[in-house]
Parts: sequence; C-alpha cells; structure tokens
Amino acid sequence: MKLKIAVLPGDGIGPEISRVGVEVMKAVAKRFDHQFEFEYGLAGAAAIRATGNPFPEETLSLCKNSDAVLFSAVGDPEYDNNPDAKVRPEQGLLAMRKQLGLFANIRPIQTFPALVDKSPLRAEIVRDADFVCVRELTGGMYFGEKFESDDKAYDTNLYTRPEIERILRVAFELASRRRRHVTVVDKANVLASSRLWRKIAKEMESEWQDVTTDYMFVDNAAMKMLQDPCFFDVIVTENTFGDILTDEASVISGSMGLLPSSSVGESTPVFEPIHGSWPQAAGMDIANPLAQILSVAMLLEHFGLEEEGRTVRDAVDASIRERVVTPDLGEGGKSEFGTRAVGKWISDLICSDAV
Ligand code: IPM
Ligand code: MN
Repeated sequence: MKLKIAVLPGDGIGPEISRVGVEVMKAVAKRFDHQFEFEYGLAGAAAIRATGNPFPEETLSLCKNSDAVLFSAVGDPEYDNNPDAKVRPEQGLLAMRKQLGLFANIRPIQTFPALVDKSPLRAEIVRDADFVCVRELTGGMYFGEKFESDDKAYDTNLYTRPEIERILRVAFELASRRRRHVTVVDKANVLASSRLWRKIAKEMESEWQDVTTDYMFVDNAAMKMLQDPCFFDVIVTENTFGDILTDEASVISGSMGLLPSSSVGESTPVFEPIHGSWPQAAGMDIANPLAQILSVAMLLEHFGLEEEGRTVRDAVDASIRERVVTPDLGEGGKSEFGTRAVGKWISDLICSDAV
C-alpha cells in the first residue's frame, strides 16, 4: 500500500517520540513491502516561533494532501505561564481538529498483563479493563463563544443536534463491533447541553437494539472508572468531559505514556498520543514512545492493515514483557532504556520477523 503521511512532531518531547513513530512505520513498510512517504510540518510553539501561527496554512494543506497525520504533542511553558499570550501552541491542535473536521476522538484504554502492578489501583481491579472513550472533539466549550475580561469570563458549551447525532453514531457502531455496551456520560442533572445529548441518545437507542445503552453522570463515571473499570465497553461523551476522563483513565493502564488515539471525521485522520508535550523531559531521551507507537498501530488498522497493526502491538507487548521500557515503567521509576533504545528495539523486532 502507498500512504502519504504528514508528520507533525510539535513541541517538547514531540520530536523524540515522532522519530520513533516514523522509524516504526519504516520497519513496517520494509517488512510488509509498503510505500510510506513522510512529509514534515510545523505545529504548536515550534510553528509560532517560525511563522507566528500555531497551525500555519502550509501545515493545513500538507495535512489535507496526505492520507493520514502522525501527530505528537504541542505545548510550551513559555505560554502556559503567560495568561496574556495572544497565541498559544494548543490553538494549533484545536485549529487542526476543527479545520480537518475531526469530530470523533477514539481513545482506547487497555491494560497490559505485565503492567497491572504499575497502576496505583489494585491489580484485581484493573486486570482485563478494556474500553474505548469516544470523545466529541470539535464542539462544546472548547469552541463555543468565549469572553474574557479582568472581572468576568465565560466559555459556552454549545452543541447542536447534528453534532450530537454523528458522535453517538460513531459510539453505537463501535459498540456493535465490541461488547455491545454504550455508556453515555453527561451532566444532565445540571446542564442543558447534557439534557440534549441524553434526549438524542434515548431517541437513537432503539436503532441499536443489540446494544445496551446506559447513562451516567460524569462525576459518577469518574468514580466508577476507578472502582470498576471493567464495567465499561464504550463511553461516549462531550469534548471537555472526554478530555478529563481520558487522563484519569490512563491511571488504569499505568502510565500516560501508553495511550494512543485516533481522530476521525470529514478530512484526513490524525493519530496521536493522548499525553502532552512534557517540556521538562524534552531532549532527555526518557519519554515513553509507546503511545506514539500504538498510534501508528491505530493508523495502520484504519487503512485495513490489520496484520501490520497486530505486529506493531505484538512488538510493544514483547518490549513490555522483556522490560525494555522507559523509566516511567521501570522498577522504582528507573530503567537503562531511553526513548531511542525502546524505539530501536521495537523496530528491530518488527524487521526481524520474530513477531
Ligand atoms: C488532549 C490535550 C488537548 C485537549 C490540549 C493540549 C489542548 O489535553 O488532546 O487531550 O485538551 O484536547
Ligand atoms: Mn487532555
């Protein structure tokens, strides 16, 4: 298969894990005889410094003219500590999502048998947890009308019927291919926007007779996720709740560095880790590249390359089993392996035909 990939390394640890992601894709291309072509674009603080814009026109057209985007992370303390900054790196990520119409963010949460002891939760709670959070990505407070002055500020949590219907459809379809259980997470006891979500979900439920649908307030869902994560199969929720719940969910897997995601919608799909740019670790060769590598697996599977995706996942599993892991997953937070070494070990394994 021929695929043109737009690579957006971004900021902080982004470039380091991006290199590993590309290396893994090259290993897959070599082993399975595919032609993957890579073109690089600027995003985030790196793009602001070069062009003044966190998601420049050239990057948008690069993305639009590619089959997929391999994204890493954006964010920089220079902007985090300056509430008056007029442009922020994160705006680049949001612009990309909006301009590519990526309304559905798929965030799978899984546990690795060799890592159940890494979670601060008891092993018997997290073992076998396997669910997907379907996060709405182009609406809600992130994009609703905003106002900001010294004495007053607001964000508007606006959702329209078509926006809610299309994301719920993604969740129902996904659930019908999994364990057929959807949990709609909202705050319908307080928020008007949530009541519309719930009303529409109740209308749509009957179209998906074989799927069990239940409804949970977000505060309760946040608790249930830690008490009984195996309860969930597919969670569907609005942008802000999905952002918060998926960081929380990473605790189940044992590290933020393990969770990949795909964002799909109208234009080119984007594959990215759910973690941020961790600027304190930039250039230190300690960032866990597995979330990026698993994003590559999701990319391959998106194009129907199931065996290739499986191979990448098997190589990741092997690295964890053999303890070829970055310090976040090492004994006592230590490890002799860095980002590059873990990436190389996994790429070599893929090339070697041993997985
Ligand atoms: C994420 C991130 C982003 C978000 C930030 C960087 C804008 O936290 O992808 O979860 O809030 O969506
Ligand atoms: Mn987040």
